[in-house]
Amino acid sequence: MINIDQYLVEKKEIINGALKKCQPVSGPPAVREAMNYSLEAGGKRLRPILAIATAETFDYYDDEVIDVACALELIHTYSLIHDDLPVMDDSSLRRGKPTCHVIYGEATALLAGDALLTLAFEVLSSYGLKTKGTDKALRIIAELSKAAGVTGMIGGQVLDLEAEGQILSITEIETISAMKTGSLLRASVLCGALAAEAGDRALKQLDRYASKIGTAFQIVDDLLDIESSPEELGKPTGADRDRYKSTFPALLGPDKARIKAESLYNEALEALDSLDQTTDLLSGLAHKLVYRTK
Ligand code: IPE
Ligand code: IPE
Ligand code: MG
Ligand code: MG
Ligand code: MG
Repeated sequence: MINIDQYLVEKKEIINGALKKCQPVSGPPAVREAMNYSLEAGGKRLRPILAIATAETFDYYDDEVIDVACALELIHTYSLIHDDLPVMDDSSLRRGKPTCHVIYGEATALLAGDALLTLAFEVLSSYGLKTKGTDKALRIIAELSKAAGVTGMIGGQVLDLEAEGQILSITEIETISAMKTGSLLRASVLCGALAAEAGDRALKQLDRYASKIGTAFQIVDDLLDIESSPEELGKPTGADRDRYKSTFPALLGPDKARIKAESLYNEALEALDSLDQTTDLLSGLAHKLVYRTK
């Protein structure tokens, strides 16, 4: 039986080590400092861990999975820097520290985000993955770029901003969550699976699993914004209410939102049932994502 807490600690250490090696050694110091500041501020590293865990579910441990994991975290960290900018969610606390723009100014924070996004694709195309064949590399790069783009995370962020102050339907909130947050979590699982060369049937089930936990993850994020504290979360709470965000708990109330997250969790487990592989790791991670307190 896998010890998930220990697994998270071990993988986080590996990812943090690998991320350090990704950091650029030349270029203007101000932007490099801002990139490193946000990357090293912490974070749960859930997306890279999901990619590694999915590959390991298929007994695949090669080094390029770590590059894929780093690319995911680079993109995620960029998305947080931009999400916190005054023109977006206007937040001054992230990962327990002042946000990137508070320390480095808006222009540098914006460019540090851009540089992290670009670095992700440099990492994917320059190192381990390059040696594993063009087909595999291109499938992973295509998956990740689509997830981060206008039909994925960016599109979701746009819809999220447009929805401020609006009363949306549950389906509309589901779409926003799936795009702004679900896309990258889904890509984490799928890119791990693509690295391991999982078959189409497995990819389909993993897609279902990842889509369910992606939406559940955002519901829990919205619940923690109401129920937790900045000390615990490392970011402000009550922020969604202050900005009139359209969230699951705002529409359904916290109790029904929690039930919705739990039923998505159960559906994610059902999707895993039909895989031939042992799925303890992925079910354990789904549990962590949905029952997390920060
Ligand atoms: C926060 O993501 C932003 C969302 C997509 C909801 P995480 O909760 O994974 O943030 P970190 O990486 O641990 O800081
Ligand atoms: C952010 O959602 C999703 C991203 C793509 C960054 P939120 O705006 O709810 O994330 P937090 O609460 O600021 O971390
Ligand atoms: Mg936001
Ligand atoms: Mg935000
Ligand atoms: Mg939030």
